[in-house]
Order: sequence, then C-alpha cells, then structure tokens
Amino acid sequence: MIAFVPLSTVDGAAVEALLDRAFGSDRHARTAYKVRGDAAPLAGLSLAARDDDVLIGTVQCWPIHLHGDDGRRYDLVMIGPVAVEPERQRDGIGRQLMMQALAAAKVEGSDGALMLIGDPEYYGRFFGFDATHTGGWRLPGPVERHRLLARGDDVPAVAGMLGPVVTAPT
Ligand SMILES: CC(C)(COP(=O)(O)OP(=O)(O)OC[C@H]1O[C@@H](n2cnc3c(N)ncnc32)[C@H](O)[C@@H]1OP(=O)(O)O)[C@@H](O)C(=O)NCCC(=O)NCCS
Repeated sequence: MIAFVPLSTVDGAAVEALLDRAFGSDRHARTAYKVRGDAAPLAGLSLAARDDDVLIGTVQCWPIHLHGDDGRRYDLVMIGPVAVEPERQRDGIGRQLMMQALAAAKVEGSDGALMLIGDPEYYGRFFGFDATHTGGWRLPGPVERHRLLARGDDVPAVAGMLGPVVTAPT
C-alpha cells in the first residue's frame, strides 16, 4: 500500500539515489539547484511516497527569494524536484505527491507564491501553474522561459533575481 510520509522520515541516501535515476547524476548542475542554494527543504511541504517501505517518489520544496529590481524582496516557495521511480511513473503518484504538497502549503499559508521549473504540459494541466508572471525573473543559470512557472495570488510580476534565502550570520 502506498503511504505518503514526511521526507525527513526517509533515508537521505535513498532519496538521492532516486533523484539520480529520475534526473541523471549530473542534476546538481541544474539552475534549480543554484536558485535554492544550501537551504534546508521545507519540512512540512517535502514528502516521500513509499510502497511497503520502498521509496517510490519524492517532492521537495524550498524557501527562496525574488530580489526585485524595485528594491523589495519577495518570498516564494520553490517546488521540485518532483520525482517518481521510473518503473512506477504514470500511475498517479506524481500527481498525489504534488496535490499533498500543495494542500500542505495551503494549510501553512505559504501557497500564495509558488514557483517551479518544469513542463507546462504537466504542471499547467494538473496544477494550474503558468508563466504569466515570470517573464521578468532572472535566474543564476540558464532556463527555458516557458518552463519557468508560478501559481498563487501573491506571485510577484516584477523584474528581479531569484536566489536562495540568505540568513544573517548569528
Ligand atoms: C514528471 C513526473 C513527476 C510525473 O509523475 P508520474 O507519477 O509519472 O505522473 P502522473 O501519474 O501523476 O501523471 C500522469 C499523466 O501526466 C502526464 N505526464 C507525465 N509526465 C509528463 C510530462 N513531463 N509532460 C507532460 N505530461 C506528463 C502523463 O502523460 C499522464 O497523462 P494521462 O493521465 O493523460 O495519461 C514523473 O514522471 C517523473 O519523475 N519524471 C522524471 C523526473 C521529472 O521530469 N520531474 C519533473 C520535473 S521537476
């Protein structure tokens, strides 16, 4: 039976191995990894799917900022990677992972400004993400603009640079 559990309860090495199988082991060079930086994933929004204790899918979410050219700093939640074990794909697991992460964001009140880099044919069709407000966003690496997607009432439709949340040294 498939169970959805907090990502923090799953072996980290198994998660990394699944991500390598879904995206390739060169995935760390992707622009999305630079956007999120070294921040820890958002615990309440990062989930794993297990089938009889075998990891079959995962979604991770991250706190990020848009540093607006207007001088303001906007909070966003970056979703991804979303990954399903290749032989278990197209069986609704990705959709369930996303729906649970989106529901958790709503409960936490952090669903006002969500973004991701992904296929609009999937994230638009099932979850309502689009590129309407992201045209002015710059990223610390290459991105296909039509794959730069967002959702939520507070998505900043302003020009600016996306990057990690930087916490002041203590
Ligand atoms: C993309 C991914 C997360 C989707 O999860 P999944 O469990 O395989 O997909 P679901 O069962 O939830 O959804 C299946 C439906 O989505 C469609 N779909 C799946 N991936 C798609 C994609 N990249 N683009 C367009 N449609 C897609 C399928 O055609 C299917 O449509 P149908 O119901 O009309 O047949 C999964 O395939 C995966 O891990 N892929 C490799 C990693 C990746 O590309 N992740 C996304 C970028 S963050």
